[in-house]
Amino acid sequence: MEDDFTYVIRKALRGLNLAPGDAAARAGVAESEVMGLIRGTFSKDAARRLAPVLSLKPEALAGLPEYEPKAIDLPSLDRLDMAFGDGQVNAWLIRYDGCSILFDTGVSNQSISLTLNAFGAPHLDAAFVTHDHQDHVGGLEEVARRSRVLYLPSDPGHPIQAGDVIAIGLLKIHAFDLTGHSEGALGYRIEGLEKPVCVVGDALFAGSIGGCPPESYPTALDLLRRGVFSQSDDTVLLPGHGPATTVGEERTSNPYFP
Ligand SMILES: [Fe+2]
Repeated sequence: MEDDFTYVIRKALRGLNLAPGDAAARAGVAESEVMGLIRGTFSKDAARRLAPVLSLKPEALAGLPEYEPKAIDLPSLDRLDMAFGDGQVNAWLIRYDGCSILFDTGVSNQSISLTLNAFGAPHLDAAFVTHDHQDHVGGLEEVARRSRVLYLPSDPGHPIQAGDVIAIGLLKIHAFDLTGHSEGALGYRIEGLEKPVCVVGDALFAGSIGGCPPESYPTALDLLRRGVFSQSDDTVLLPGHGPATTVGEERTSNPYFP
């Protein structure tokens, strides 16, 4: 998992511009208990009482330490899981009916090159980028070299914006707005695979969301509600970090979406 409960609570406090002491007072719990949650001491009871003050779903927050989405069974999909600092970053490779499509480019040219070679993907029909943070665009040059076309929400690729629909082989890729964690970030809904699939970048992680400053926190949640949680429960979600998940599992277990 990309985030544990400490991140979820800290991201909600930051998004709401709320000090831990104020949140504790509103929730009627001791400030030391909130500080404990932030520092990694979990209490289901404190989590349940704090959740409403942070506009989080109490049962989802209380259950977060045990939450892990089920493994996704989609033969056309590969997770390219690359080392990034102390953690990892994902790119996602879809190969369907002779077409190869990559989402995001990893942290460096060398990293994405080694990974694409390991997966036997020397050439790509198209590549899409979710947002311009370094761990997602670090391998841009290498991907541009391998791909017939590279779609980027910002320069220097082929421009793409929310509302655009790109047809590649039997698939249709719908770009939609996921501003919040990153200004101008795009999500991509993929139509035509065995199941509906949605690439979400760092806007959403299994059980969490990408961190946002208070100015963009409401927008981030609203765009996720409209662009992701409006989709059917079986929609597979592909985040920029951590495991794949589904709309149905996140509807139940992601604390940010009551
Ligand atoms: Fe990011």
